[in-house]
Order: sequence, then structure tokens, then C-alpha cells
Amino acid sequence: MRIRGNVAIDLGTVNTLIWVAGRGLVLEEPSAIAVDATTGAVTAIGEAAEVLAEKEPQDIQVLHPLRDGVIADLDATAAMLNGFLRRARPHNGPLRPRALVCVPSGATFVERRSVIAALEARRPRYSARLIDEPVAAAAGAGLDLSGGAGGFVVDVGGGTTEIAAVAGWRVVRARSLRMAGNTMDEAIVHAARSNLGLILSQRAARQLKMTLGLTGGVDGWAETVGLDLAHRSPRVERVPADLVAAALEPTVTAIARSVQEMLSDIPPGLAEDVVRGKVRLAGGGAILPGLASQIEASAGIGTVVVDDPLRCVVRGAALILERRDKNVPGLAQ
Ligand SMILES: Nc1ncnc2c1ncn2[C@@H]1O[C@H](COP(=O)(O)OP(=O)(O)OP(=O)(O)O)[C@@H](O)[C@H]1O
Ligand SMILES: [Mg+2]
Repeated sequence: MRIRGNVAIDLGTVNTLIWVAGRGLVLEEPSAIAVDATTGAVTAIGEAAEVLAEKEPQDIQVLHPLRDGVIADLDATAAMLNGFLRRARPHNGPLRPRALVCVPSGATFVERRSVIAALEARRPRYSARLIDEPVAAAAGAGLDLSGGAGGFVVDVGGGTTEIAAVAGWRVVRARSLRMAGNTMDEAIVHAARSNLGLILSQRAARQLKMTLGLTGGVDGWAETVGLDLAHRSPRVERVPADLVAAALEPTVTAIARSVQEMLSDIPPGLAEDVVRGKVRLAGGGAILPGLASQIEASAGIGTVVVDDPLRCVVRGAALILERRDKNVPGLAQ
């Protein structure tokens, strides 16, 4: 049964998504908040804050309150969540609403507590429960984990890459790598600076990553605009694909190696489920052109990108919230 007001939240380093029972996905915004540097008042959240991030207006500070998938700034996260939930307007009935929030499998006790604290700091107070992201990702990827069935998921987000074998709604083995989309952007910024003498914004680097990826896109180059390192004036530049591929290489190799190591560590009883179900790639980083084939080549088993990878985790959390199955750890707490 759908209980009005219940929400599933994917509180990500780069993007926050909120699903509301009975209404579906209602919010999808960058995890950013802009505050007045003098008064501390919140001036914008989500997309409206993100567009200001790299323009650096005076008196405004743009914060990304999550780092590596967990809360780095509790007050800012609570204010951002509060704003998002007000915007999402879940219809609250007389019962205390429930929130199911995804956290990285490697999150510490303190980090988990801080997510709950952020939700309890608002009115109405939510009864917050946490679920490990890989379990939500597996459900969102279409794996049916009931009856002890298992699968293997890799969620390449902005701050973390979660690599996990799951079975029966539980994590069997997991590794949270603090290397993902943001690391790739930073590597491109660094490469453009040292090889082309060009200072790029993170947004420009991200665009190059999406267009060229590991495969080089359609043209083998992409145009970008940055600041000339020597003259500090704007410069348009054609960036060659091999520069971007070389910058992405260390992160991609680290992810592929971790997948391989994790696969070699699964219990033998899970091997058939994993081979049949294939490695499921989720998260925004899964869309990186060439990533799936590189993982497949090094892992030696089929690797597929799930449908709509950016929404996979919240979709899975919503499915779990709707099942209200006692066997799902997130609901049994
Ligand atoms: N087409 C694309 N190619 C490559 N990367 C992409 C593409 N689209 C989005 N991304 C990257 O995906 C990342 C965001 O993914 P996602 O929303 O899954 O992360 P998140 O859930 O916020 O982070 P985390 O799970 O680490 O907390 C960003 O680094 C973004 O640049
Ligand atoms: Mg995520």
C-alpha cells in the first residue's frame, strides 16, 4: 500500500533525487546550496545555486555539502534537504512520514547518524531509515533479490564508486572507492592546464568528459572555452580526444581493477547469479563512453549499463519502500 507522504531520497554528492509515494519522481537537482556570505541566509538551492558555483559572485558562497557520497557539512545539508522537501511537497497525513535514504555501503556510523539528523532537524520530522546504495541500485537495475537471489552492481557516481555483490536484499561484499565522476573532471582540468596551458571550469571539463569519454566521440576532438594560463584571457580551444582519454585512464583503471578484485572475492554460490545477471553499471558515470566495454574486457564477464542510470538508485529505493518487505534491511530497522 502506498502511504502518502513517504519519500525515497538519493542524496548524492552531485545530484539529489526525491521520489514521493503516489506521485513518483518529483525532484532531481544538483546537491548545491548558495548562502549569503554576510548574513548566512540561504539564497538558492539546487540548479539555481549550481549555476552560480563557478561564476563566483561576490557575497555569495555556493556549497556542495556532500563529499564522497556522505555529509561533509551537516547544517548545509539539512538546509538543502529542507528546501528540496518543501519543494517536493509530499502530502503529509496524520502519520509521521517515512523517508528511505540511500547511503554508501562504506558510510561510517557517524556518517549514517548525520543523514538521520539532517532529516530529523525539520518539521514534520521524518522517521528516517537508511538503505545501502548498492541494494537500492540492484533493485533499480531490475534484479529481483527476493528468495536470496543475487547480483553484482557498480554504481559510478560523482563522489564514490560503489562496487558490490548483493543477495537477498543484503550486501554480500562491497567496496566504496572514493574515485568517480568528480575525480575524472579534476583529472581533465589538470591535463588541460599542464598540456594546453588552459584553465578550465569543472563544468567545461565535465562537458569534455561526456562528449569524448574514452572513445573520442564523433570527431575525435571537442571545442571548449577556458582561460589562457599565461594571459588570463578567455580562449577557445579544440581539445583532442587522446588528452581526455589519457586523463580518464587512471580513474577508469582503478575502477576496473577493483571490479576484478571484488569478482575474485565473491562466494562460489553467487557466481552463477553474477554471470547470468551480468555486471550492472549504474550512476551517472556509467554513461561515460567506453567505460562498460573497458570493465567487461578486464572483468571477463558481461557488463551492461542499466536503463536510466542516473535514476537507478532512487528507483530502487522507491521499489523497496513500496514493497514494505520485512526482509529488506532498510525497512526492518
Ligand atoms: N554522459 C555522461 N558521461 C560521463 N559522466 C557523466 C555523464 N552524465 C553524468 N555523468 C557524471 O555522473 C556523475 C553524477 O552521477 P550521479 O548523479 O549518479 O552521482 P551522485 O549520486 O550525485 O554521486 P555519489 O553517488 O557519488 O554520491 C557526475 O560526475 C557527472 O559528471
Ligand atoms: Mg549516487
